[in-house]
Amino acid sequence: MKKICILAAAVLLAASSMLLFAQADGAALFNEKCSMCHGAKGEGNKDAGMPAAKGTEMTAEKLTAFLFKGDPEKAIHASPMGQLNEEQAKAVAAFVKELK
Ligand code: HEC
Repeated sequence: MKKICILAAAVLLAASSMLLFAQADGAALFNEKCSMCHGAKGEGNKDAGMPAAKGTEMTAEKLTAFLFKGDPEKAIHASPMGQLNEEQAKAVAAFVKELK
């Protein structure tokens, strides 16, 4: 199950990275690049072993760096996520911090 999810995510990421964004829209980017693992509202997916993104203890600044640069200690997030540029990472981080 986990393998299938990761594979599906990889395909989606490859497809979505071909699209160019004129403007960074945190909600749309989250929907496109994060929701397949973290759920439409960032609630996570226990069955697939995906933690919630909402309610993260990271500050918006930390989250931006986490998404833009990656964190070697965080499994799937070890490398930058979804080929976001810095502005996009910032927009997604702001969106995640707004999730309730
Ligand atoms: C392929 C699945 C996948 C995708 C896509 C993905 N994540 Fe994650 N994310 C994970 C997993 C798995 C973890 C747990 C990593 C760990 O703790 O080792 C995680 C952790 C997180 C955390 C929790 C960090 C913490 O410790 O508080 C946040 C926030 C997060 N992801 C946000 C995002 C955002 C925003 C995106 C989209 C840009 C995204 N993720 C895309 C799988 C994914």
